[in-house]
Amino acid sequence: MRSGVRVPLISCPHPQKIRPSAWRLALAALVLSGICLILSGTPLRSQSAPAPAKAGGGIDDANLDARVESILGRMTLEEKIGQLVQYSAGQPTGPGTGRSDYEDMIARGQVGSLFNVVDPHQINSYQHIAVEKSRLHIPILFGLDVIHGFKTEFPIPLGLASTWDPSIVEKASRVAAREASADGIRWTFSPMVDIARDARWGRMAEGAGEDPFLGSVMAAAYVRGYQGTRLDAPDSIAACVKHYVGYGAAEGGRDYNSTEISQHTLRQFYLPPFHAAVQAGTASLMSAFNSLNGVPSTANPFTLKQILRKEWGFRGLVVSDWDAVGELIPHGIAPDGATAARKAFLAGVDMDMVSSLYHDHLQQFVTSGVATPAEIDEAVRHVLRVKLALGLFEHPFVDEGAAAKALYQPESIALAQTAAERSFVLLKNANGPAGKPLLPLASGIQNLAVIGPLADDPSYPGGVPQGAGPRVSLPAALAQRLGEGHVSRFQGTGILNGSDEELAAAVAGAQNADLVILALGEAPDMSGEAASRAHLGLPVRQEELLEAIVRTGKPVILILFSGRPLTVPWAFEHVPAVIAAWFPGSGGGPALARTLFGDVNPSGKLVVSWPRSVGQEPLYYNALNTGRPPDDVDLTRPPTDIPSRYVSRYIDQQNSPQFPFGYGGSYTSFSYGPTKISTQKLSAEALNRGSAAATGGPAMIAEADVTNTGSRTGEETVQLYIQLRGTSTAQPVRALKGFQRVTVAPGETARVKFELIPEVFAIWNDKNEFAAEPAKLTVWISPDSAHGSPAEAEILP
Ligand code: NOJ
Repeated sequence: MRSGVRVPLISCPHPQKIRPSAWRLALAALVLSGICLILSGTPLRSQSAPAPAKAGGGIDDANLDARVESILGRMTLEEKIGQLVQYSAGQPTGPGTGRSDYEDMIARGQVGSLFNVVDPHQINSYQHIAVEKSRLHIPILFGLDVIHGFKTEFPIPLGLASTWDPSIVEKASRVAAREASADGIRWTFSPMVDIARDARWGRMAEGAGEDPFLGSVMAAAYVRGYQGTRLDAPDSIAACVKHYVGYGAAEGGRDYNSTEISQHTLRQFYLPPFHAAVQAGTASLMSAFNSLNGVPSTANPFTLKQILRKEWGFRGLVVSDWDAVGELIPHGIAPDGATAARKAFLAGVDMDMVSSLYHDHLQQFVTSGVATPAEIDEAVRHVLRVKLALGLFEHPFVDEGAAAKALYQPESIALAQTAAERSFVLLKNANGPAGKPLLPLASGIQNLAVIGPLADDPSYPGGVPQGAGPRVSLPAALAQRLGEGHVSRFQGTGILNGSDEELAAAVAGAQNADLVILALGEAPDMSGEAASRAHLGLPVRQEELLEAIVRTGKPVILILFSGRPLTVPWAFEHVPAVIAAWFPGSGGGPALARTLFGDVNPSGKLVVSWPRSVGQEPLYYNALNTGRPPDDVDLTRPPTDIPSRYVSRYIDQQNSPQFPFGYGGSYTSFSYGPTKISTQKLSAEALNRGSAAATGGPAMIAEADVTNTGSRTGEETVQLYIQLRGTSTAQPVRALKGFQRVTVAPGETARVKFELIPEVFAIWNDKNEFAAEPAKLTVWISPDSAHGSPAEAEILP
């Protein structure tokens, strides 16, 4: 039993020994540790990504086995099938709810889980039926989409990821777990770890962006935060990693759409965050809506059985997404409900969310021999294992009086504000009228106009019952700081529509002001589920407002609130300062005020490539080079200077993004020294034996000096990328393999050191396995995915 013990995949600074057979299947991503020193001699807190760790007292606890078998041995077939059935019994988060006679069904042992019930009294009353009236007294598992906080609202996951700070993500998830569990909810359908390469897909908002390494680090951090050190602690909740798998690759960014993902891309890009979450001990996974290479993910034995169970050894619970079992019919692989249930069940989906098809058909499958009793038992084991690991049998009820006390704790609210402060990405900060960068603002502003429809309280619904906790809006936070008489507020327009009068009043307000803060962007329900967009700009009326305000000639700071990057090229050209604030949660107002006035130096960095126009999507930095790479051939070069037109590019748009993955500004500046590596020669054979790790040392050390060349202390996320050329399968032009946040005082230099262990160099090869291969290797230590000086090396056979 691993009670209370975290088992790191890697540890800083001594990477763990990893057996070659294990590491061939391991993630190439989660394998880096880092050390950072200030050259002047002061050791600095390492900001390297912590290794994923399995929560102790979790689902893999061998002590659970005997209890699982003992319960299983007493169950009837009907009771077993009941454990595989889940309904929504509150505010629906999808179409239909299956049925509603839950109370009778619970008493008969026919319901294993309910979700969307948020009232602790209601939760207890269902639980009393299960525990007191059902024959075997098996408690119900209550779930909910707790995706960026339960009541205390944190930035949306895309914003949380933009902190590049897994410790913040872990702490935020801990708060969410504490609040949700106090309410009686012991299972969250989070984290969403889908890789999102296309900003048209609205659910980009719910994930950690486009990169598998960062996504893996964040996935593990969420799991650690939700599940704590022991799942049976009363304030721990089971994580459910979703949507397995490929959901983020929906064609054209249209939600729920089909995906075609080669095994190479699946293994190297889409699967790693799921694997990281499994390694971190996630109790459950959710099977996705999308079809993957023609086979719906909810009926896909290759991903659900071969990869998840056989290769990764997952022992937890797989639940379908909302009615995803029933949707096998419109997918076209099942003519009727019985076939849909059979295909999903035999593929490895343990629990049926909402469709009721398991309830209707599983029993008959066993009697007719379509499914064996052993197969039913195995699915039930997964459910019981999670319930037992959570300690639900010992503590099925929630203390109804305790919930209120756990919510909105001062330290939770403070953490939400810190998370927001770290999530903001400073996209642009050009000179203002005083001939220096417009931000941060001086404190003595007499007349500040706050204009725009997003300024007040852009609370993001995100499927969660949002809290009514304390919130201070941006205008209120600014007024607290400058004094009521010094801040004026104009709507200018609604999010989609507005009157000419409103717009004129805002323009007049701007004319009377010294400075304008313009809060524009998406309505919260313009991103998230079922919120794909074909246009990624501001709604027309907001664009008109933007241009009208800028035409007043007043200095303007644009704050973009959105669940995805927005294509606003005019703004990037004409507005001196732009901040991406995402949906920052309950601490957003004060966090923005502190950032605008420089109490906080922005340190967030983009976790998605920011497009110039929607036609560039899907857009991601870790693309393959192609046979005709554009290199530096771009629209910015005069046509006469272009060596060849026959390259992979647009003729009417630059290939480069507006801002690259990893980019984010600061009120100070950093300069990067050359990337230095400890060896120019590695051996594929040694890497594959893991011999470098076996000696306890890394395969390669890469380091660079990062100097704060500005006048303020700043935090910088230093990134390490590699490229491999000459391998059996084409590899991305760059792949993130590590990052560290360092705090550097003005004039000081941090030496940032990365220890690369063998897995870093493993690729999914043409033999369908992870292995290192002979290759040319380039390593960059850089501020983002588009800069940095390369260091060259070679992997010999
Ligand atoms: C459908 C969504 O895809 C999923 O993410 C969510 O957890 C379920 N609905 C339950 O609300």
